[in-house]
Amino acid sequence: MRLCSIAEVAEGQARGFAVPGLRRKVVVVRKSGRVFGYLDSCPHYEGGTPMAWRTDRYLNGEGTHLACHSHGALFDVETGECVLGPCLGQSLTRVPLRVSALGEVELQLESAVEEPA
Ligand code: FES
Repeated sequence: MRLCSIAEVAEGQARGFAVPGLRRKVVVVRKSGRVFGYLDSCPHYEGGTPMAWRTDRYLNGEGTHLACHSHGALFDVETGECVLGPCLGQSLTRVPLRVSALGEVELQLESAVEEPA
């Protein structure tokens, strides 16, 4: 399923996209020429919390980490692991993506996305 064009997410930036059937958006983030996808669902609280304080504000101020602005958790962009904050060692839910030859970012395995309860 198509999420967006790669041109809609600049290198070093992140954006969220709604997906039919998913309660949370999928965050597409680009770093070092690679593309990563995660559910917009902070693992700090069971059930997950949307992370951005404003539309598409998924990164910390320096742009180095994904951030949950509720309580300041920081997540490694490449692994989704919380490296600072109240959910240390927990991880964001990875969403497998692929970028087509035409530059379309596609959700690769829809069935692999398991939303937190
Ligand atoms: S809900 Fe994300 S850090 Fe608390």
